Amino acid sequence: MQYQKRGGRSITALQPLHLELESGKVAVIFGRSGSGKTTLLSILAGLLHPSEGSVRFGTHDLYAMPDKERSAFRSRNIGYIPQGQSGLAVLRVRENILLPASLAGIPDVAERAGALLEQTGMTALQEAFPHELSGGEMRRMAIARALICKPAAVFADEPTNDLDETNAQQILSMLQSAAREGAAVTIVTHEPFAAAYADVIYRIDNGTIIKEGCTSSVQII
Ligand SMILES: Nc1ncnc2c1ncn2[C@@H]1O[C@H](COP(=O)(O)OP(=O)(O)O)[C@@H](O)[C@H]1O
Ligand SMILES: [Mg+2]
Repeated sequence: MQYQKRGGRSITALQPLHLELESGKVAVIFGRSGSGKTTLLSILAGLLHPSEGSVRFGTHDLYAMPDKERSAFRSRNIGYIPQGQSGLAVLRVRENILLPASLAGIPDVAERAGALLEQTGMTALQEAFPHELSGGEMRRMAIARALICKPAAVFADEPTNDLDETNAQQILSMLQSAAREGAAVTIVTHEPFAAAYADVIYRIDNGTIIKEGCTSSVQII
């Protein structure tokens, strides 16, 4: 993947790679800042057109679809937890969580929203606005929002950044549960403790990704 810079220069953010993500598994990709994590995740999640290559999702070729179709496909099949704080400031927690379902036109999600609020420990905060939440609560809201449409794939960009260990373990546990319910979960991070939640580990350095191989599904807390 190359980014075009001003003046016609380009930089290579990712070297050519082949990556297969499996349903029901947590893949953790470790890499320091600037190694290409967000670039890779955005490409996998259908948010950034790669300068070459393709992303296949079952029988679908993500970037062969017209933008509108890809966007509809994404909202039904892909849950994305962006880096940093996210959430619409003018919407309450519950409304933020429900938003992707209403954008995707998925009806009758109230029960699922209730279950996700419960599972993420956010029931008491469902009427709060994002600015009233702690960092951990904000991430939990982002996870519930990413899971509302029961996506087949979930991508989380540094989901435990800036969180204390208790909150971080909680977040990773939730992502692991989503995998146990059948999603292909991919987490990019620079925090080593995420390894305890991984079924497969990759390392990315300067745009090159290497599989480490690990079959542990044991939780170490
Ligand atoms: N939109 C962009 N335009 C140009 N260069 C970019 C852009 N986004 C990222 N890069 C560059 O690509 C490399 C990888 O960035 P990124 O994927 O954000 O890494 P990470 O998420 O691991 O910190 C960095 O050198 C970064 O400066
Ligand atoms: Mg990043």
